[in-house]
Amino acid sequence: MSLLIKNGQITTSSDEYIADILCEGETITAIGRDLKAPASAEVIDASGKFVFPGFIDPHVHIYLPFMGTFSKDDYDSGSRAALVGGTTTLIEMCCPSRQDEPLEALDLWLSKAEGVSACDFSFHMAVSRYDASVEEQLRQIVKRGIASFKIFLAYKGAFGIDDTELYNTLRLAKELGVIVTAHCENETLVTELQKRLIADGKTGPEWHEPSRPVRVEAEGVHHLMTFAELTGSHVYVVHTSNDEAIQAAVAGRRRGVNVWIETVAPYLVLDETYAQKANFEGAKYVMSPPLRSKNHQDALWNALASRTVSTIATDHAPFDFKGQKEMGRDDFTRIPNGIPSVEDRVNLVYTYGLRRGRIDLHTFVDACSTQAAKLFGLFPRKGTVALGSDADLVVYDPDYRGKISQKTQQMNVDYSAFEGWPIEGRPSVVTVRGKVQVRDGKFVGQLGHGKLLTRQPTHH
Ligand code: URP
Ligand code: ZN
Ligand code: ZN
Repeated sequence: MSLLIKNGQITTSSDEYIADILCEGETITAIGRDLKAPASAEVIDASGKFVFPGFIDPHVHIYLPFMGTFSKDDYDSGSRAALVGGTTTLIEMCCPSRQDEPLEALDLWLSKAEGVSACDFSFHMAVSRYDASVEEQLRQIVKRGIASFKIFLAYKGAFGIDDTELYNTLRLAKELGVIVTAHCENETLVTELQKRLIADGKTGPEWHEPSRPVRVEAEGVHHLMTFAELTGSHVYVVHTSNDEAIQAAVAGRRRGVNVWIETVAPYLVLDETYAQKANFEGAKYVMSPPLRSKNHQDALWNALASRTVSTIATDHAPFDFKGQKEMGRDDFTRIPNGIPSVEDRVNLVYTYGLRRGRIDLHTFVDACSTQAAKLFGLFPRKGTVALGSDADLVVYDPDYRGKISQKTQQMNVDYSAFEGWPIEGRPSVVTVRGKVQVRDGKFVGQLGHGKLLTRQPTHH
């Protein structure tokens, strides 16, 4: 099957030009003006539209046993949501708990995705315990093409690891050339601040932020920088919410630490006042690290514009308001953490970042696609529009005007954190390896078309 996408404004992290793209099989085989369609080709007119490389979300949770419950999406709803929103590759956190075996966990997470996902996928392998057996399993996992780890410096007693485990994980990563993605918060401070607030009767969702203030996150980043400096491993700070945390990473970078910074869509468009909404509505906006004050939003956009922050992910972690967020009605520490946004990321960043002049087109593509491909061993197969690259393409309509709503979303969750928000553009056609999966903004594709992307270590 071949596909000819005609007259689109092809826009990558570095280039912008009008041309046709021919996709044969799964691959881009020609780019040029006035390309002739092979006899059986489907022709898509992209005049007046952008053609972006498929967007990559390098931090999602689809299957997540967490805080006494399970995240709501599976790869059916999650991959459809990703695709309708222009995301053609998901990198999910494979998150075993401390007592689980990593190889079994990887097989479990894989079984949720394989044969179901409509988009391509890979995993970051969480290290929730470190001993000789785990080390051996991690070596095998990297050989199987899962070339990135995840660690949590938060969530004491759940996913969190101690400093000896942190040290050993980073040393192994350095030896194997694997990048380590890290959730950075000081877990002792979180636990003690939570206890004090609850003891003082401060139980509502508005107290989630004061239990994990900016300094707690910056301290976590500083801690990671010290360990990365002394082990030489390459690290990636996930879901960075504020300027002080960025500065802690930048200080490490100035000392020679190989560190990259991720932020996530919710921090760019939401602030702490959402978590302060009355009648427990604020619970919809509880995630960790928490939403911050508005000035940090400006800092994040500026750090994206200067490319100090490399990537925009989502940290998609969907929990229903009814029955799940409500578990923490009398105690904010029991509210399952997470804000669903895998479907909305690209449109939010396009509308509230690019169209508001906070970042330019190339930074938009770089942060939402190219950097993730480069950092996680997928480039140039993914993350660009080039000969030989996978035909993952997003024909993006800048003239579309619409609103986000729970009623029309693909995500399997009973609310939208962005209910009624206008968007000024959307993907009209989305392809995954040459197959049209979205047309006119609707999923028309095939579940199970998605493939596991194996990745080789590149961080030596
Ligand atoms: O609130 C969050 N971030 N939930 C998902 C788990 C994590 O920390 O990434
Ligand atoms: Zn996290
Ligand atoms: Zn996460």
